[in-house]
Amino acid sequence: MTIGAHVWMNGRVVAEREATVSVRAHALHYGSSVFEGIRAYATPRGPAAFCLQQHVDRLFDSCRIFRMALPYAPDEITKAIVDLIRRNGHNNCYVRPIVYRGAGSFNLDHRKSPLEMAIITLEWGRYLGVEAIEQGVDVMVSSWRRMAPNTFAPMAKIGGQYVNSSFVAMEATDGGFVEGIALDVEGNISEGSGENIFLIKEGVVYTPPLSSAILPGVTRMAVMTLCRDLKYRVEERALPREFLYTADEVFFTGTAAEITPIKSVDRVPVGKGGRGAITARLQGEFFGITAGKIPDRHIWLTYVHAGKQTVKTG
Ligand SMILES: Cc1ncc(COP(=O)(O)O)c(C=O)c1O
Repeated sequence: MTIGAHVWMNGRVVAEREATVSVRAHALHYGSSVFEGIRAYATPRGPAAFCLQQHVDRLFDSCRIFRMALPYAPDEITKAIVDLIRRNGHNNCYVRPIVYRGAGSFNLDHRKSPLEMAIITLEWGRYLGVEAIEQGVDVMVSSWRRMAPNTFAPMAKIGGQYVNSSFVAMEATDGGFVEGIALDVEGNISEGSGENIFLIKEGVVYTPPLSSAILPGVTRMAVMTLCRDLKYRVEERALPREFLYTADEVFFTGTAAEITPIKSVDRVPVGKGGRGAITARLQGEFFGITAGKIPDRHIWLTYVHAGKQTVKTG
């Protein structure tokens, strides 16, 4: 993992080693941060950030939910991200903007501590392994549930909530699986520790709704759009656990995981036990668009080099 040499911190670009926080930072003690994960892909026209506007919008939504009043406009953050990718000289990278409460008070009302923000870039390969994209991954249903409504705020990407994801991920690793799937408090399928999930049965594409305690994934949105482009019916509905064992195809989506097929759940093979045909078709579209090889018909790419930008507004 190569970390970008420069970090954007509170409105200034500084050397990475100078981008430090206090041991008294509120976020360190109580998880009072919100963040994003964005990928920029190498294309023939240079690096292009995928769905940048949608990620910046979700960052601001997370801030609203968690009562963090950012002193920047969304356009300023969008520009800061594009400038930083260019400045760090990446061809492709992962971008991690984080808004957090710094050193101030130990009071649990985080609004008593100062609001800070940083943007980091790094070069990061395939999150779930190099072969995962083609061959799929073995996963388990976790004994850890996703948070119940009115306990945390699953729609927001809040740092402290990722303790739940850590439990899911650790249990999966310890059991010899690549990832875990958490059920919601009702026992319906929710999502992976850091991915949304899709199931396909008889040509229909299913995915859990927001009310199943999922993060509204940007990749999820893009994949639902691609399904409609390819004329697959998409249904967002509560899905019982058993559906994982009877589906023809199952896959994860996420900025880090991209579109990763699931080849078994709890050691039960999914379909024929490998990547299914619809999953492969969706991957073809997704990776074609992100590589700049298939026309970017939904204006999902923001080109990083000057004069070549298409920033989607609204
Ligand atoms: C808990 C969780 N669910 C789903 C996702 C997928 O969201 P996205 O496609 O926006 O990366 C992520 C990753 O950000 C996540 O952390």
